[in-house]
Amino acid sequence: MPLVTTKEMFKKAYEGGYAIGAFNVNNMEIIQGITRAAKKLNAPVILQCSSGARKYASHDYLVAMVKAAADETGLPIALHLDHGPDFETCKACVDGGFTSVMIDGSSHPYEENIALTKKVVEYAHAHGVVVEGELGTLAGIEDDVVVESGNESYTKPEQVEDFVTRTGVDSLAIAIGTSHGAYKFKPGQKPQLRFDILEEVEKRLPGFPIVLHGASSVNQDHIKMINEFGGEMPDAIGIPEDMLRKASSMAVCKINVDSDIRIAMTAALRKHFAENPKDFDPRKYLTPARDAIEAVVAHKIETVLGCKDKA
Ligand code: G3H
Ligand code: 13P
Ligand code: ZN
Repeated sequence: MPLVTTKEMFKKAYEGGYAIGAFNVNNMEIIQGITRAAKKLNAPVILQCSSGARKYASHDYLVAMVKAAADETGLPIALHLDHGPDFETCKACVDGGFTSVMIDGSSHPYEENIALTKKVVEYAHAHGVVVEGELGTLAGIEDDVVVESGNESYTKPEQVEDFVTRTGVDSLAIAIGTSHGAYKFKPGQKPQLRFDILEEVEKRLPGFPIVLHGASSVNQDHIKMINEFGGEMPDAIGIPEDMLRKASSMAVCKINVDSDIRIAMTAALRKHFAENPKDFDPRKYLTPARDAIEAVVAHKIETVLGCKDKA
């Protein structure tokens, strides 16, 4: 099946009260782990590549592998640019086979964010590609940008209609208290999301798909496993699954997950090497890592996203 845009996926997700998982991909095993889970559960899925992923694996390899996964599974799969930093990167992805791009103008002043996002939308739409914009900034690390906790800013609901109308974006990422990376809340801090902001955005943009970044939940068993087998990961608190499930039943149609995959892979690799210290065959050590990714994604589809059998 050819790659699809997120248009149809989001329409069905909004109406059905569920969300689509958008998982970051950097290599073949990650793509296979995710799409094997999606195939087993007959779920639509978004595979997204950051600028860092394009630098690491190269654009053409990523596109070819994602297309191979779509052909093999027959599932609706969208290939999305995650956190596009500028027009040129978005254009390269539009020209180079992506079906969706994010232009992340959230760190720019409001009017500059609008101008940049509009320029990307005009180019992308002329080529049949959809665009995600962002309003509000999340704490955490994405590529080389670090936003210290405390310097993040929640989305202002009074700006969303103006932003969406003037830019023409197809979906909007908002900041309601999620953040990038494994360390989303301070030790002892109770995780909280601003559902009041989400509700207000939903009221102002009825039927419009909202995106949540920084939505990893951080599996404590995986952290324990990493530390049991030689790692030194401090305690990490993610977004509770029941909060993500609630967001999925509201206007949130796309939930971004990267850290949970990294943590699952790392735990599986550490365990494998601790138990098989003589192994030096990548096919042997990457097999449990790929299986661990598949298990994480299957769990998300079934219990968090609610998109099982929605392909
Ligand atoms: O939001 C950012 C994602 O976790 C991607 O991370 O830029 O290190 O590939 P990356
Ligand atoms: P996590 O770090 O919570 O997995 O967020 C990933 C993300 O938002 C990618 O854009
Ligand atoms: Zn993100």
